[in-house]
Amino acid sequence: MNDMGGWTRASPDLYPHQWSWDSAFIAIGLAHLDIRRAAREIEGLFAHQWKTGKVPHIVFDDHAPPESYFPGPEHWSSACNFPDSAPDPSSTSALCQPPVHAIAVRHIWRVAERRGSDMEEVDGFLKRIYPALLSWHRYLLTCRDPEESGLVTIYHPWESGTDNSPRWDRPMERLEVGEMPGFVRQDLQHVEDPSERPTDFQYERYLWLVELIKRTRCDEDAIYDTHPFLVKDVLASAILVAANEALLEIAVRVGAEEGEREVLETWISRGRRGLEGCWDPDWGLYLDYDLRAGELLPTRTVAGFAPVVSGKLDPGRLEALVARLQSSEFAGHPRLCRSLPPSTSPEDLGFERRSYWRGPVWPVMNWLLWWALGRAGQTKAAGRLRLEGLEQLDERGFGEYFEPFVDEPLGSLYQSWTAAVALDWLYADPLAVHEPDRQG
Ligand code: SER
Repeated sequence: MNDMGGWTRASPDLYPHQWSWDSAFIAIGLAHLDIRRAAREIEGLFAHQWKTGKVPHIVFDDHAPPESYFPGPEHWSSACNFPDSAPDPSSTSALCQPPVHAIAVRHIWRVAERRGSDMEEVDGFLKRIYPALLSWHRYLLTCRDPEESGLVTIYHPWESGTDNSPRWDRPMERLEVGEMPGFVRQDLQHVEDPSERPTDFQYERYLWLVELIKRTRCDEDAIYDTHPFLVKDVLASAILVAANEALLEIAVRVGAEEGEREVLETWISRGRRGLEGCWDPDWGLYLDYDLRAGELLPTRTVAGFAPVVSGKLDPGRLEALVARLQSSEFAGHPRLCRSLPPSTSPEDLGFERRSYWRGPVWPVMNWLLWWALGRAGQTKAAGRLRLEGLEQLDERGFGEYFEPFVDEPLGSLYQSWTAAVALDWLYADPLAVHEPDRQG
C-alpha cells in the first residue's frame, strides 16, 4: 500500500506523497531488505532539491487525487516557480524538514558492508549523493543560520516535523492572521476522531505562514526580514550535528577534499556550542529559541533531550537527561501503558493525550532516542526502548502515533516510517552499540 516502486508514500491515505524526513527513516528500514531500493528512496527525494540546496519537505505525486491531501501541489505551485525552486517538474512544497538524510546514507553504506553487498555500486551511490548532502547542509548552515549560531531556524512548525507540539504555542498564539484565500482541510477525512489532528486554530496559522512565505517569493533574506515565525529548532539542530558527523565519514570514504572536511568539522563544533546555549538549568532540558520574541520557549517535550542525538555530552549531563527521560515526567509516568516517552510530558500544561505531537508516543522518536542512547553508551536505557517499542508495534500495528495511557494507535494506521523503525529494530543486534559515538 505504501511502496510506489522507487519511492514510498508516508502513508496510503493521510499522506499520499513523499515526505523528506519520513523517506530518510524509511531508507534506514529498507536497507535491511534491499540496499539499491533504499538508495533510490534518497536519490529520488534529492532529485527535487532546490537550487539553494534546500530539500523540500514534500515531493508531490502527480497521480494522487487532488482531494486526498491539503495543501497539495496546486497550493504550492506558484511558490515552486520562484527563482530558487527545484528543477522541473517542481511539484514540491517550499518548506523543509529535519536533516536525517546523511545519517540514513551512512546507515545504507554500513548495512551494505555488513551484508557483503557490491561495494562498487554503493560507492557510486555515495559519490553521487555526497555533493547533494553537502549542499543541503550548507543551506541549513547559511540561509537558516545567518547568525552562525550553529542552530537551524525554522519558518513554520511543519519544518520541525512536530507540527502542533506545545513547543510552538507561544509564537503561534502571537500570530495575527490576515486576509488569505479560504481552504478545506482534507486530513480530517482520514482519521476517526478530529482530536487526533491539529485544531482549526492551528491550521489557519499554518496556512497563513505558507501564504507569507509565498508572498516573499520564497526569498530567504526577505523571509528573515519579515516573517513572524522564526525559531531556532533544538531538535533539527541536534539532528544536523549528528548528520554532519555522518557526512564527514562519507566525505572521507568518497575522498572529498581536505577543505570540505574542515568545513564539516567547523559545522559540528559550532552546532554543539549552539546547542549548549539552549540548555535551561531551571527547566533541566534544552529549549527552542524564538528569534522574534528573543526568548527561550519553555515546554516539556521530547525535543528537550535533543542533544543526546548530537552526542558527546558531558557525562554528568547525559546521566541527568537519561534519569529525566525515565522519570515520572516522561517514560516513567504512572499512568503510561508502556515505559515509552510521550511526545509531550503529561505534566506539561500543553499535554493532550490524543493530539498528534501534544502527548502521543511516536515510534520514530523512540527509534531516534534508542539510536542516540546507544551511541552514547547508554545501552541499558536504549535496549529498554527497543524492546518496549517492538512489543508495542507487535501488539498494536504500524500506527503513526499511540495514545500513551491506553496504547491506541492513532493517525494513519499504516505509517511507513513506523514499519521502517520496526525493521531496523528487528535487524539490530540488541547488545551492540549502534554507530558508536567516537569520543563518547
Ligand atoms: N505533518 C504535516 C501534515 O500533517 C505536513 O508536513 O500534513
